[in-house]
Amino acid sequence: MQKAKVGVLISGRGSNMAALLYAAKADDCPYEIVLVAANDPDAPGLALAAAEGIATFGQSHKGMKRAEFDAVIDAQLRAAGADYVALAGYMRLLSPEFVAGWENRMLNIHPSLLPRYKGLDTHQRAIDAGDAFAGCSVHIVTAELDDGPVLGQTPVAILPGDTADSLAARILIAEHQLYSRTLAAFVTRERQPDWLLNKVREIALAQPQAEETLSHGMPCFGIAKGKKFAWVSRDHHGDGITALLVKTTAPDEQASLIEMDPDIYYRPAYFGDEWIGIRLDRGENDWDHLATRIRASWRQVAPKKLLGLMDIAEEF
Ligand code: GRF
Repeated sequence: MQKAKVGVLISGRGSNMAALLYAAKADDCPYEIVLVAANDPDAPGLALAAAEGIATFGQSHKGMKRAEFDAVIDAQLRAAGADYVALAGYMRLLSPEFVAGWENRMLNIHPSLLPRYKGLDTHQRAIDAGDAFAGCSVHIVTAELDDGPVLGQTPVAILPGDTADSLAARILIAEHQLYSRTLAAFVTRERQPDWLLNKVREIALAQPQAEETLSHGMPCFGIAKGKKFAWVSRDHHGDGITALLVKTTAPDEQASLIEMDPDIYYRPAYFGDEWIGIRLDRGENDWDHLATRIRASWRQVAPKKLLGLMDIAEEF
């Protein structure tokens, strides 16, 4: 299994980073930590990571502009080969450039049940509000602070007599479990059949007059009252494969694609010579290319009249 490479950013003790790192020691963990970086060279978490044999980087942000410092961290992450970033107690607001550069690739853990209590002092605010439960959330990082889509949460009961510290200590136990579990699910989500189907669905249904149906247990997309142009094969007859089936655009294209890359392309059973199976479950998918394929397949089956209208529309 190819493991996703994760860079972790910390500012202090780094207990969440440690939890991610220890979870990553399991053979079946789908991610590995390739760098732990901090905006404080003395952050205790850096020494811990180094002792575990992980590459570290520590530099103070003092005296630097936000975007300038973020560019230094960004360069370290890229040099380490990180595919994802996990913020773990990183006490810095991030520049828009940095956030944009890791769009949908950066997670954060926050000690509250978002959307409640963004920002600081979350534990005291939950106690003061008389909440029965506090907790923690892992979310995708977007430009707005503590605001991106929530991927996972653990509620933690507030006990009578809880102080901010006693509550924080209990929530931290939940954080350590939630973060590695959520990160593992996140880095593998693009291989999950449901996620892949949704992605194909988005592209297919954006084609003119497209509709979705189910045939032979496979979700498929066709032109309303017309022919089908895309199928998604999910574990068909237990083959364990998730693939996109589309029409080829030239004779012999099926054979040449399979010859070019037999790990990705295959001849879909019962579909004949004019269709090609494209594996979606191999990790890296080029979605621009797949969208081009789906559009080309749509054109193969679209009635002449509709194609003519499309061509006229495209000229304008
Ligand atoms: C955690 O409570 C986390 O939720 C918040 O900052 C704290 C970091 O603690 N974002 P640690 O450095 O991971 O121990």
